[in-house]
Amino acid sequence: MLLNSEGHSPARGRGSAARAALLGLMLLGGSLISGRPAQAARAAPPALLLGTAWYPEQWPESRWPKDLALMQAAHIRVVRVGEFAWSTFEPRQGEYHFGWLERAIAAAARHHIFVVIGTPTAAPPAWLTSRYPQTLRVHADGRRAQHGNRQQFSFSSPRYRKFCRDIAARLAQHFGHNPDVIGWQIDNEMGPPSFDAETRRQFHAWLRRKYHTIAALNRHWTTAYWSQTYDHFSQVPMRAQGENPGLLLDFKRFVSATWSSYVENQVRAIRRHAAPRQFITTNTTHWGDQFDQYAISRELTLAAWDDYVPDGHFHWLENAVQDDLVRGYKRRDFWVMETQPAFVDWAPVNAALPPYRMPELAWQDVGHGANAVLYWQWRSALNGQEQYHGTLVGPDGEPVPAYRVVQAIGAQFALAGPALAGTAPRSRVALLQSYASRWAIDFQRQTVRFGVVREFTAFYKPLERFAQSVDVISPRAPLGRYRLVVAPALNVLSRAEAHHLAAYVRAGGHLVLGPRSGMKDPYDALWAERQPGPLVPLLGGHVGEYYSLLKPVPLIGRLGSGHASVWAETLVPQAPDTRVLMRYGKSNGWLNGTPAIITRRVGKGSITYIGAWLDPPLMSTVLDELARAANVHPLIARVARNVEVCERLGDGKRVWILINHGRKPHSVRLPAPASPLLSGGPARRTIKLAPHEVSVLLAPLT
Ligand code: GAL
Repeated sequence: MLLNSEGHSPARGRGSAARAALLGLMLLGGSLISGRPAQAARAAPPALLLGTAWYPEQWPESRWPKDLALMQAAHIRVVRVGEFAWSTFEPRQGEYHFGWLERAIAAAARHHIFVVIGTPTAAPPAWLTSRYPQTLRVHADGRRAQHGNRQQFSFSSPRYRKFCRDIAARLAQHFGHNPDVIGWQIDNEMGPPSFDAETRRQFHAWLRRKYHTIAALNRHWTTAYWSQTYDHFSQVPMRAQGENPGLLLDFKRFVSATWSSYVENQVRAIRRHAAPRQFITTNTTHWGDQFDQYAISRELTLAAWDDYVPDGHFHWLENAVQDDLVRGYKRRDFWVMETQPAFVDWAPVNAALPPYRMPELAWQDVGHGANAVLYWQWRSALNGQEQYHGTLVGPDGEPVPAYRVVQAIGAQFALAGPALAGTAPRSRVALLQSYASRWAIDFQRQTVRFGVVREFTAFYKPLERFAQSVDVISPRAPLGRYRLVVAPALNVLSRAEAHHLAAYVRAGGHLVLGPRSGMKDPYDALWAERQPGPLVPLLGGHVGEYYSLLKPVPLIGRLGSGHASVWAETLVPQAPDTRVLMRYGKSNGWLNGTPAIITRRVGKGSITYIGAWLDPPLMSTVLDELARAANVHPLIARVARNVEVCERLGDGKRVWILINHGRKPHSVRLPAPASPLLSGGPARRTIKLAPHEVSVLLAPLT
């Protein structure tokens, strides 16, 4: 069957019992095309939802029943509708047409499909932008956007926000108590700021609120440098790059605050009219750092992201870290609001994700805490910018090959979903991710090779392999539950954050700081006490100097040997009990024989500073060792490298999701017998995974 490996025929793939079960479900799905009574959809939505983006406004109503029947047959239980449909909702200013959506929702309900409504504000209608051109975004070079495409609005425009509030409120008045509407998505992939006069006025007001006096701003930004000293807030330029680092960081924070209030504007409008059971989210992008995602998420019930693999190469650890990142936005379950049916249309080469990778991707999302996976999109509009994108049905309305794969995934979701209700990953290891640090390093990389996401992922990979569950969280999040906390590059570190981390260590926690940590204060100014700034006293040591590397530098010490590349810092232990774990070998003359990793015990806890970007095997050796010392254990021991282990706990249940991402079969010996939910059958201790096979197991809690 299609879930299986590398073009093998079904007979050479995974267990026939599972196939039979899935086939049965698929056939059952097929027989449901005729429809069941509507009230079934009014029951609580399933714990695990398969879905798609559906744009009914692009098609005649007479077509909807066929689309929905096909969706139902694929076990699709949720559609996202309405985003980008502003010109259909409000074709002329103040003239609202919601009847079509009401009918579309009712039609979906007849097929047991729930609905998430997207507010249409990423695509203002032509009457709005032509009558109120000041709502159009201005690019950094001063050009005003024209109408067309999408995202052409200015995020700070009071007039645009009034229109957003009105359309969101009217939609909520209409659908806020509709039993088949389970949630709302605000806008779509927000991101670009605007550089118009109104935004500049708001930026200056924001700076005034933050600093109160221009003298305070001058001090924190050290504006005596290059004679930048300002007499008035109104003199401060508004730039997103090539400026004073203090200004750049504050501009990012201002942009975050502006997007937050943009979201809040619509959230309030919806909340006033909608039932509390309806969640509110927005869909975010890959590693998106246009604004602080933690700040935006405070306004929302749920986080959601769009999980695309544009070049078709699925690197499981690189995707897993993003699931964990998004789970950390609100430190709870999340949604994958969009993912690709085989391929996208916006990469240099839009290669298709192989069919056997699609279930791996979907189940990885679920394993890391997603409770819904929606495919973008159901069917291409016959015209419009995305005609080539992957879909589930073709322009003729008939299934394309990806449909069958999604259908099989849907059958699996239906089988395992109930067991996953009320469960979520629970990690003992956390990686700290800070937007201020990411931005600050990006403003001044010092070496183009220092990609912040790449460095973060270099820490994540061995930790995820070792612990099989890692939380990615803000440095301000509660840390009490973690045995090990790792900050790969916590470049900007406030005193409050340093106190928070020090308290964690004093309470027995194990903290590991990576290179470039603790260099800057919250104004992006250098800490005078050197790195790691306010954590120097706890570490009993500091960074002596930093170097961008052209060539790898040897490393040797009690944790093994290997190389540093990209970045190396010399460390200076000061306290008598600060120990050196690794030193640089002979290299550029500056580094020869100097400490590269130092550590200090603090009561039952410890703080360790890794000053270099380690090669992958050494990174793995060092982090495994630090994890073991912190009493972190794998969820399931001795698992092959390409087998991913996820665990979700809660509601008195333990569910393991095992994914064989490799081309070879593997066996996994479980700590306790568990019942395979996809293939059925009795509880077992050993699970045999065919290449690319997924197994979902209900295990005892013990
Ligand atoms: C997303 C966007 C969707 C669609 C999709 C195509 O970024 O939210 O509307 O354009 O990309 O992959």
